[in-house]
Amino acid sequence: MTTNKKPVTAAPIADVLAERWSPRSFDKAHVLTKDEALSILEAGRWAPSANNMQPWRFAYISREDALHSLICEKGLTGFNQAWAPSASALILVAAKNKAEDGTPLTKAAYDAGLAASLMQVQAQELGLHTHQIGGLVREEVKSILNIDEDLDVLVLIAVGKLAPAENLEGPAYDREIAPRVRLELNEVVIYGQP
Ligand SMILES: Cc1cc2nc3c(=O)[nH]c(=O)nc-3n(C[C@H](O)[C@H](O)[C@H](O)COP(=O)(O)O)c2cc1C
Repeated sequence: MTTNKKPVTAAPIADVLAERWSPRSFDKAHVLTKDEALSILEAGRWAPSANNMQPWRFAYISREDALHSLICEKGLTGFNQAWAPSASALILVAAKNKAEDGTPLTKAAYDAGLAASLMQVQAQELGLHTHQIGGLVREEVKSILNIDEDLDVLVLIAVGKLAPAENLEGPAYDREIAPRVRLELNEVVIYGQP
């Protein structure tokens, strides 16, 4: 059964945004095409960034990649180890922590977050689903992927095809079918009533 997590929004938003949500039940047999993977990464590349510094760096780890199982076993924390391996691919989002002259890049994580967000939207537009994972053993991920010291590992984005919620059990199933919740609009808009 397809899980419907489309929220009732306080104002209309684009379908691609309303339909995005973070599942944990992914189709274990689904493989991302090269074109899909490139399209998602390209969406991240075209994110805006402070002074157009483009501090983001991505790594693409498909389920077929030799390092995939190592990252899932050693690089993910807790329950993430149970569900994330089913996704077709993991996209690492890292950010440069200093410019060429050594100046700290204070907006880099914000910029990389924008890139991550656009990659999620692009994946959704392709009919895929994504789920960001911040629960990482960052030193393990860095070491497995041989990531430079000047890059901060931020998240992995699991990308894949949605599978039935019934593939999960217990609390994981309950969370998969629970309605999505947010603060009210007037709680987050702290000034001005449109
Ligand atoms: C930076 C970041 C880190 C996250 N880390 C995890 C994680 O480690 N494990 C997990 O299951 N979900 C993780 N999530 C997913 C959030 O829990 C999820 O986006 C949030 O509950 C809202 O649900 P929705 O995306 O379905 O609207 C993370 C999301 C973000 C943006």
